[in-house]
Amino acid sequence: MRTIRIAVAGTGYVGLVTAAVLAHVGHDVVGVDVDEERVRTLNSGGCPIFEPGLPELLEESRDNLTFTLDYREACADADVVFIAVPTPERVDGSANLKYVFASVEQVAEAMGSSCVVVVKSTVPIGTGDRVQRHLATLLAGTGREVEVVANPEFLSQGTAVKDMLHASRVIIGVESERAREVMARVYADLPSPLLFMERRSAEMVKYASNNFLALKIAYINEIANLCDLLGADIDDVARGMGADPRIGDKFLRAGIGYGGSCFPKDTKALHWLSSFHDREIKTVKAAIEVNAVQKISLIKRAHRYHSDFEGLTVAVLGLAFKPGTDDLREAPSLDNVAILLDAGADVRVWDPYAMDNFKRFYPDEVTYCASIPEALADADMCLILTEWPDVLSLDPAVFVEQMRHPLVLDGRNCYALDEMARHALVYESIGRRTVGTAR
Ligand code: UGA
Repeated sequence: MRTIRIAVAGTGYVGLVTAAVLAHVGHDVVGVDVDEERVRTLNSGGCPIFEPGLPELLEESRDNLTFTLDYREACADADVVFIAVPTPERVDGSANLKYVFASVEQVAEAMGSSCVVVVKSTVPIGTGDRVQRHLATLLAGTGREVEVVANPEFLSQGTAVKDMLHASRVIIGVESERAREVMARVYADLPSPLLFMERRSAEMVKYASNNFLALKIAYINEIANLCDLLGADIDDVARGMGADPRIGDKFLRAGIGYGGSCFPKDTKALHWLSSFHDREIKTVKAAIEVNAVQKISLIKRAHRYHSDFEGLTVAVLGLAFKPGTDDLREAPSLDNVAILLDAGADVRVWDPYAMDNFKRFYPDEVTYCASIPEALADADMCLILTEWPDVLSLDPAVFVEQMRHPLVLDGRNCYALDEMARHALVYESIGRRTVGTAR
């Protein structure tokens, strides 16, 4: 079988992981991006993003993976072009497709006599049809032809390489037998089952999946809030629910809500789309609302102990929206630190990877600490916002030793209650009983 020549437009975490994995299985891959510094870094053997396993995969695939700023160089000989550019949120919540169409137009100019254009970016249902029509107009009279495929990604930041190498399924929306054959060849050497369907259904699978997971989180958080009130323990409740295979035990971790570049954006985009078509999905709307309140729920708890935060020293452990990434997009840390600073608190933060990114928002307003004990020093209160391994493995005695008043508000349920009860501290988490007594 002839090696497939693939171009990947966009070298963010989705495009880059896609390019690296497809090169890893033997295809000839060229990544194209408009960001000069990124392309320079990649061509000199560096990896511009923090993603476990990616630097190694890039290194290993160097013989058949290159990067360029030039669409012609990438697309002229390509059999398949993946579009993996961002689709940021517009002010009204809808997805902004300007980068997708800008990229598609460059592909139309640069491509050879025929190719398959695969939309990997998360796009509203019907976008594949629009791209197909747009390309037909651009290519009219040139004798060149193109087929558009929808192939949404299901990569989680922090495990993206593994997620693509061992995907539970690959969703492929095609409108022709030829596109189906080409896509089957692209994925032939990966072990995952390929689920073929029509293009619009494939686009819907992506939104429906992300929104379902966001709903699951919002639901468990609401149940946790009720557990707080009624004396049940959310960890046990989630364990009991998760043991039912119809429910499943994933995405039932209660906490201070979801963040990141996907769930917040995709819930708003589906809400916008459904409302636009006069079919508002009420469950999704509820998840958006629940999550907004959940993200700042520790502040409400903090007010039970301190009517105002003026002059308090507050330690914040974890800034990234989840462990394993330095990404701060929609991270609860941004909302919480903004409220604390506005209320006059002295904020000391620690995160193993995300502090440099946080400095873009707060260059001097908070104290950046190199270790957890340093962040906790003389603190009146500690907020745990990300369940980093260093936080999970921390000896709770450190809170007592370091803090002026050991009040720990844990937004990620990092510690066993029995263990915390052995220490002279007050510990509140989400949907579990409070340990220790308030002053
Ligand atoms: C998510 C999906 O999991 C991927 O399948 C999808 O491809 C990706 O979005 C995307 O659309 O590109 P990601 O945003 O990287 O991936 O992160 P997740 O691991 O899904 O976590 C999202 C948020 O949910 C985090 O803030 C996490 O802390 C929170 N979460 C997750 C919970 O609060 N509880 C849980 O039980 C699970």
